[in-house]
Amino acid sequence: MDLVWKNIGALSNIPAQGARRLCIGKSGPPIAVFRTGEDRVFALIDECPHRRGPLSEGIVSGTTVACPLHNWVIDLTSGLALGLDEGGTPILPIRIVAGEVHVGLSLAAGESA
Ligand code: FES
Repeated sequence: MDLVWKNIGALSNIPAQGARRLCIGKSGPPIAVFRTGEDRVFALIDECPHRRGPLSEGIVSGTTVACPLHNWVIDLTSGLALGLDEGGTPILPIRIVAGEVHVGLSLAAGESA
């Protein structure tokens, strides 16, 4: 699979200690792009590993997000559930170029972003 960098706009378009939800392509899962209070940026598939809750609607604290449905805490750096909970959601690579956020998308052959 090839990696394609998708520019999603300025870092300032993502609320600090919040997230933006992206729908890219026709059939792919939504992506949550998080910005911490320290302006670190992470991207995860926007589905909690518990019951697919929308992590983009969760509460960001440090480098974690608490799922809005049942409060599982997910590590934004790894996508893994913390504490006694088990499971994880895929993470996507991020890069910042001239103040703009790019998400790395893995595309199957013939697919476009
Ligand atoms: S769906 Fe996220 S904690 Fe249950």
